[in-house]
Amino acid sequence: MSRLLKKVPNINIRGYSSLQNKMQAIQISKLGGIEVLENVTLPIPKPSPTQLLVKNEFAGVNFIDTYFRTGLYMPPLPTILGEEGAGTVVDIGSQVSDFEVGDRIAFMTSFQGYAEYATIDPKKAIKLPPNVPTDIGCATLIQGLTAYTLIERSYKVTKNDTVLIHAAAGGTGRLLVQLCRHIGATVIGTTSSEEKGKIALEDGCDHVINYSTEDVPSRIKELTNGKMVDVVFDGVGKATFWKSFDSLKYCGTLVSFGNASGKVEPIEINILSKKNLVLLRPTLHWYITTKEEFTNYSKKLFDLVQNGTLKVNISKIFDLKDAAQAHTFMESRLSTGKVLLRIGSHNQIKSKQ
Ligand SMILES: NC(=O)c1ccc[n+]([C@@H]2O[C@H](COP(=O)([O-])OP(=O)(O)OC[C@H]3O[C@@H](n4cnc5c(N)ncnc54)[C@H](OP(=O)(O)O)[C@@H]3O)[C@@H](O)[C@H]2O)c1
Repeated sequence: MSRLLKKVPNINIRGYSSLQNKMQAIQISKLGGIEVLENVTLPIPKPSPTQLLVKNEFAGVNFIDTYFRTGLYMPPLPTILGEEGAGTVVDIGSQVSDFEVGDRIAFMTSFQGYAEYATIDPKKAIKLPPNVPTDIGCATLIQGLTAYTLIERSYKVTKNDTVLIHAAAGGTGRLLVQLCRHIGATVIGTTSSEEKGKIALEDGCDHVINYSTEDVPSRIKELTNGKMVDVVFDGVGKATFWKSFDSLKYCGTLVSFGNASGKVEPIEINILSKKNLVLLRPTLHWYITTKEEFTNYSKKLFDLVQNGTLKVNISKIFDLKDAAQAHTFMESRLSTGKVLLRIGSHNQIKSKQ
């Protein structure tokens, strides 16, 4: 039993009821390129007693969505894509006590973001502070929590560290740069172009290396007077893995957290003994398994956004129906921050029933 739209009389329920229980969504039923992203009409899901029903305003586009689309990570099929979103709670399960209909929230989910409605586990949802707009709330969550947990849990960055951050002008990269700078570490970023290099410097990098034209370990050697770096945060994967390895000092830490250029090839474990390196391959999911972990990190993250320490950059917003363009934009290395989908009644999607 759910407490349907009774608590907040001024909530805009018209959009919810007039859809006759149908919603627009972006679904895949097979793996492949952007052509497998289909605009579909589906039933609005019903929240279980422990869930929230959210009317989405924005969905975050993350690299992982492209991994699911292509099959680099295997999704269930058919499936809606999208691991995060933000919007308004329009219905709550009978056992949910800490959210109300009408709450404006950002949330993490699995395979539900690219849709007008989603049923959400309240353990992975946060009420947005009044002065945080819904688009910024959505843009903050996955990339922000990833950056935050990487510098807290994967490798605890201190002011004495020299860190190397690949794709420093990307969504997660820009947040990592700002967080490491805030801590007082020396920050070296890599980017593929001069324009992106400028962004990385403005965000707080002490040095930027153009990894399309320069050899990263040689430049790191010059910049650190031969000391090399304490830690590398590498979300690029296949193309940078060995450069990251060669940029580290003895007993350094390589945090390999993504596959933007492809999956890292299997490695021989003994290779680590060459420099006594620590190698991690973390995923955000396992740093926020409990409500306490999610709430703790999210609150700290939004505090940093609210007090101006962390600037969340939205690179581009696409309409839900243009999710394919959003994937192309991201995969073509054009984004310099968060890519979002806007979801609303103005989205006149030509649907496949
Ligand atoms: N482990 C986790 O839990 C977790 C969570 C979130 C994200 N991630 C990972 O973090 C990485 C960054 O994600 P993001 O969402 O913040 O994306 P992003 O950094 O905004 O975009 C990826 C960037 O990677 C760089 N890149 C290098 N080679 C590339 C290639 N062949 N194709 C496309 N991009 C390439 C590009 O920057 P340049 O043009 O400067 O090279 C590009 O802008 C991804 O690998 C993602 O999977 C992991």
